[in-house]
Amino acid sequence: MISVILGSQWGDEAKGKLTDMYAENADLVVRFQGGNNAGHTIVVGDETFKLRLLPSGIVQGKDVVLGNGMVIDPEVLHEEITELRSRNIDFGNIYISERAHVIMPYHKQEDVILEDLKGKLKAGTTKRGIGPCYSDKVSRIGIRFTDLIDQATFLEKLDTAYSIKERFFKSLGYDMEVSKDDIIKAYAGYASMFGTYVTDTPSLINKANDAGKRILFEGAQGTHLDIDFGIYPHNTSSNTVCGGACTGAGVPPRSINRVLGVVKAYTTRVGAGPVPTELTDAYGKHLANKGHEFGTVTGRPRRCGWLDLMLVKYAHMLNHFDGIFITKLDVLCGLDTVKVCTGYEVDGEVMDHFPANMDVLARCTPVYKEFDGWDFACDEVLEKGYDSLPANAKSYLKFIESELRIPLYGVSVGPRRHETFTFKDIF
Ligand code: IMP
Repeated sequence: MISVILGSQWGDEAKGKLTDMYAENADLVVRFQGGNNAGHTIVVGDETFKLRLLPSGIVQGKDVVLGNGMVIDPEVLHEEITELRSRNIDFGNIYISERAHVIMPYHKQEDVILEDLKGKLKAGTTKRGIGPCYSDKVSRIGIRFTDLIDQATFLEKLDTAYSIKERFFKSLGYDMEVSKDDIIKAYAGYASMFGTYVTDTPSLINKANDAGKRILFEGAQGTHLDIDFGIYPHNTSSNTVCGGACTGAGVPPRSINRVLGVVKAYTTRVGAGPVPTELTDAYGKHLANKGHEFGTVTGRPRRCGWLDLMLVKYAHMLNHFDGIFITKLDVLCGLDTVKVCTGYEVDGEVMDHFPANMDVLARCTPVYKEFDGWDFACDEVLEKGYDSLPANAKSYLKFIESELRIPLYGVSVGPRRHETFTFKDIF
């Protein structure tokens, strides 16, 4: 059985906590897109883990797969595994798709160069080389893990890619920051470190599914950062929607049994581009400070705003969520009023879909439904149960559920695993 967890907004919906929680009942946890531009924070007891590449289930000793749709920086993977070892985490098997692409030092350099040149079209990337690595995949000058672990192939492919990049960078006035010899040395080390992890992951996943195993697919980023459906060009370079799970892991669409959409109780965005419900006033500061809204990967402050149901409705259309999980409800505590955007008005007309055109999006005025605020002590409501939440908070949740017409699978009221009301399992 395959269940997929996806972000319904701009990423950072606290998916890490949920995948970690649901991974408890999973046999295998799979990532299918992105790379170390993702950052999942998991809190277990007093310990905090910040994972960038490894699927969240790793902390629970689950077997994990880094799927073919990913772009993987071996240096970061090495750091992450070393950290888990140093913290005595007893982790399961790590499988890397032989088709996953390898992030090279020149991808990181290219990310920085291109962002500088793009002016107002820049995405505000994480500068981890994600976009350039996916570009090379599509241009077919990429290096995959199957190439990395075969010395002769690696040298041949590196030779071609390096000379193309060298000429390209030179034409823009830059020298290569890392020499070919240094790359060969470092990457030979990664090849021997990860050689035994590299395998035919689509066969592994499909066989596990045929054998009745419970498989959790962990989305990274969010629907509105998708390369096709995100706020282009301020989006990421992979397909973050449910369809990306099929191509990025090698499973047929019909093998997916359940899709869970994670909806943060408000909106955040890291990077450039219009955010219609953005708040630059005291309400925005409240959300940023109380929600600790700083990027896991880059530490950049996130832009905060009211919950935008236009985003989530469009995400539902693209992914067909069987259920939603609302996260960080506690962050809204202490506000006198809470708003939800139910539509956009542009040039005097109400829009019925999320616009593709960024100039149109920038001119959208949110239509709000307003709620009286609430406050609660997390420990107290957890002890007394969901019904003990303040009536205003419950009306807010009920409104979201009824507007979206998607069942509420649960609500998270704090970063720890147990700070959660769960109504329905995903397996
Ligand atoms: P890239 O993925 O590093 O190329 O960055 C492209 C855009 O996606 C930028 O606006 C980033 O801030 C955003 N982005 C990438 N990964 C994440 C994430 O995990 N959470 C939130 N935003 C992200």
